[in-house]
Amino acid sequence: MTYIVGMVSQKGGVGKSTLARLMAREFGAGGLSTKIADLDTQQQTCTNWAGRRAENGIEPEIQVQSFATIKSALEEAERFDALILDGKPNASEQTVEIAKVANLVVIPTGQTIDDLHPGVVLAHSLRKKGIAADKIAFAMFKTTGSERENAAARDYITQAGYMILDGEVSVYTAYGSASDQGKAITETSFRSLNDRASKLAQSVIDRMVELQERQVA
Ligand SMILES: Nc1ncnc2c1ncn2[C@@H]1O[C@H](COP(=O)(O)OP(=O)(O)OP(=O)(O)O)[C@@H](O)[C@H]1O
Ligand SMILES: [Mg+2]
Repeated sequence: MTYIVGMVSQKGGVGKSTLARLMAREFGAGGLSTKIADLDTQQQTCTNWAGRRAENGIEPEIQVQSFATIKSALEEAERFDALILDGKPNASEQTVEIAKVANLVVIPTGQTIDDLHPGVVLAHSLRKKGIAADKIAFAMFKTTGSERENAAARDYITQAGYMILDGEVSVYTAYGSASDQGKAITETSFRSLNDRASKLAQSVIDRMVELQERQVA
């Protein structure tokens, strides 16, 4: 069985593609054959990044392919242990399709109400379309707040009825530069930043395993 993780958001620029690349790197490092389906056909962020990664000779190689439809992306699924769906900037019909086929849908969010509110509205709209709340997880991403603000953001998501993953990725120039070089955010030159990104990745993995065990039971 293939793990399918979808990265979606209402707002653009929240970190979907960065998170997709992080998860591909971590799944790969964990021995899972992984592919990113880049569904953002306009920006092709992950596809271009994989080009930079290959050019710079960074291992492990990460497979990324651009797909116009979820259906064609899914045809690849059975050849891999994990398939990561990187969605377009704004929520659309594609977002619902991603949520339907994914085992876990991750919505990256910053810590301000401006970021949290649209994320929760998106999650509610997915539930209305039949997506189970359990399948939706928020990830604290590109945060700039204090511990207190981050805790308040966690409360906001929890009170809205959703789970928020452990760990968070704050804004750091080093994360941006890593992406520029074709690296994932666990591959910066700074151990502490890599560790923080790794913690978030691990909680995505833990959540996927938990959901799968529940299905099996
Ligand atoms: N933690 C971070 N620190 C600094 N820069 C970051 C961080 N995370 C992401 N970025 C940068 O922020 C920008 C947006 O991130 P990303 O492309 O992952 O978001 P996205 O949600 O995929 O955007 P879009 O909606 O346009 O597809 C990129 O330039 C990325 O390199
Ligand atoms: Mg993107």
